[in-house]
Amino acid sequence: ANQIFNRDPKRPPVVFHWFPFIGSAVTYGIDPYVFFRQCRAKYGDVFTFVLMGRKITAYLGVKGNDFLFNGKLADLSAEEAYSHLTTPVFGKDVVYDVPNHVLMEHKKFIKSGLGFDQFRAYVPLIVNEMHDFLAKAPTWGPGKSGVADLLATMPVMTIYTASRTLQGEEVRAGFNAGFADLYHDLDQGFTPINFIFPWLPLPRNKRRDRAHNIMAETYLNIIKKRRAAHENPGTDMIWTLMGSRYRDGRPLKDHEIANMMIALLMAGQHTSAATIMWILSLLGSKPEVIEMLYEEQKRVFGKELRPLDFDSYKDLHLVNYVIREALRLHPPIHSIMRKVKRNLAVPGTKIVIPAGHHLLAAPGVTATDEEFFAHAKDFDPERWNSRVNEDEGDVERVDYGYGLVTKGAASPFLPFGAGRHRCIGEQFATMHLCTLVSTFVREYKWTTVGGVPKVDYSSMVALPLGPVKIAWERRE
Ligand code: HEM
Repeated sequence: ANQIFNRDPKRPPVVFHWFPFIGSAVTYGIDPYVFFRQCRAKYGDVFTFVLMGRKITAYLGVKGNDFLFNGKLADLSAEEAYSHLTTPVFGKDVVYDVPNHVLMEHKKFIKSGLGFDQFRAYVPLIVNEMHDFLAKAPTWGPGKSGVADLLATMPVMTIYTASRTLQGEEVRAGFNAGFADLYHDLDQGFTPINFIFPWLPLPRNKRRDRAHNIMAETYLNIIKKRRAAHENPGTDMIWTLMGSRYRDGRPLKDHEIANMMIALLMAGQHTSAATIMWILSLLGSKPEVIEMLYEEQKRVFGKELRPLDFDSYKDLHLVNYVIREALRLHPPIHSIMRKVKRNLAVPGTKIVIPAGHHLLAAPGVTATDEEFFAHAKDFDPERWNSRVNEDEGDVERVDYGYGLVTKGAASPFLPFGAGRHRCIGEQFATMHLCTLVSTFVREYKWTTVGGVPKVDYSSMVALPLGPVKIAWERRE
């Protein structure tokens, strides 16, 4: 019925739904990509759907990606789309709780803590953490072979490796004490339910707020202790932020540093945990690629396999293709949102997207479109051999205050976004994943048990649906 009432030719077509408030929540929630493809076939690239009372206008395709990622600040707001979800988890005065120009400065500070010098030091730390973890982990252990449950082990392993490097020694030690439970409570506040019903008085929101406060307190104490000890500043992220200055010369406040560290922990943990699980599952479905990766390790690090070092990572082409291919098939973030601030004409059409709607782009749609990727559903890392760097090619770049980023978002492959909100964690994530994959390949062979899993869209990132099992065998 709502199609009949949707008479204004300037409005985007509205997706048919039976229940006014609920709208398309169920179909979108179960599998957003199936929903997007069906709507696209019926309504075209631009359409509006209702999600629990919100009007969301999706703009699919490369033009939609560009329209959202390069929208003007006066037209589109990320903070108005996300802050009700993120501010209770990350805390005040960071990320989407500040005006955009402040976020741009914060991104610059964080980026300066994510340099090659840090990455060189991080690689052996990650390898050590992996060894410690896998030696004791259930379903791994010191044996010769076994069946590992990735969903039960990889998120824990990534939090150890990511926290030991990005967060520093004190925070990593905290995960052996009470931090893991707190992190879990905080994480429970970072779900689609919190996005859709921010006002629901869920009991777990109380635990979320308590966890935030205790975690923030932990960081504040670390900062205080470091200040009091008059040590020489080190190079980890807390030190980097402690030494950062705003353009007007003001240092960051302690609570800004603490909350930024919590935001970084969340940003890096879910995305990397999901991606390593996809990589291991996909590789296990094509064990011949694991052997090709092993050969690559020997080519780059010698037959004796000398220890991994960051400077050689640029020669690990196949590992990089594997990471890209997993991110192409399973980008962790399926829906990118902005709040529409002014009526926005869609170029080349008569459509005007009204102020008050949410705008949604889904780069995962173009990344799995036959138009851009032949046999798009196949896991074929070598396809990247013949392609230029899709999102870092010969495209226009622009500086929003935290370094040059790609502006032309016409690429069909944008797992890290583009424009002013582009990810600053890409290099860290790539280094992290490259270290994990290389270490697995050097030490294990494996096959996927029960086929590559389906996708679970019920959390904030696209996780494999459990059980996610691989049968592993230790190399001689
Ligand atoms: C932004 C993806 C890892 C920190 C983004 C965005 C995407 C993304 C798509 C843009 C969101 C938008 O436009 O609304 C990923 C993926 C990762 C990853 C796929 C790993 C595989 C990381 C890591 C960090 C991080 C490790 C931190 C060290 C950030 C930050 C932003 C961001 C600070 C900026 C938010 C903004 O400006 O609004 N990421 N990310 N990410 N990411 Fe990542």
